[in-house]
Amino acid sequence: MKIIKKIAIVLLIALVGIQFYRPEKNNAEYRDVLAFEKETNVDDEIAVVLKNNCYNCHSNKTTYPWYAEIAPVSFFLSSHVNDGNRHFNVSKWESYSNKKKDHKLDELIEEVEEGEMPLKSYTIIHGALTKKEKEALLNWAKTARQNYK
Ligand code: HEC
Repeated sequence: MKIIKKIAIVLLIALVGIQFYRPEKNNAEYRDVLAFEKETNVDDEIAVVLKNNCYNCHSNKTTYPWYAEIAPVSFFLSSHVNDGNRHFNVSKWESYSNKKKDHKLDELIEEVEEGEMPLKSYTIIHGALTKKEKEALLNWAKTARQNYK
């Protein structure tokens, strides 16, 4: 029993201590998705789907929930945001070549079709895409790819 108590105290101290370490936030002043939305003809319906389900990990600005302040959750979120943006960042759309744009949309279609995106850890909290949203997103992406043929 004594040892368990000791371990619990050490863990508690570690948990408090880790709160002083904060990962850097993905917090540009401005999300800057206009160029992307304009070029790929995002309508109002798609804009809402992307905003609620994708931009938190795939743009320069994340809307953080309150629990993002708490370590180790903060580190977990931060790594997903960094990793997501490294692969696909709509705020940097203009810097992508046409080939890369086409490829990213192709990846998007694949990820959404297979239910890989949004990430599981996100849908558990925010809910998954509805069938209608998924279809709308796929139709939009398939049409948008025509721009880059
Ligand atoms: C919680 C964060 C998160 C959310 C929300 C999210 N993604 Fe991702 N996304 C990632 C991460 C991390 C990766 C890279 C690792 C992987 O492919 O699993 C990724 C990879 C991708 C890729 C692959 C890019 C490449 O070149 O391989 C595409 C496309 C993508 N996401 C699209 C989307 C779309 C569309 C949505 C919304 C429907 C979405 N993601 C929501 C985190 C997220």
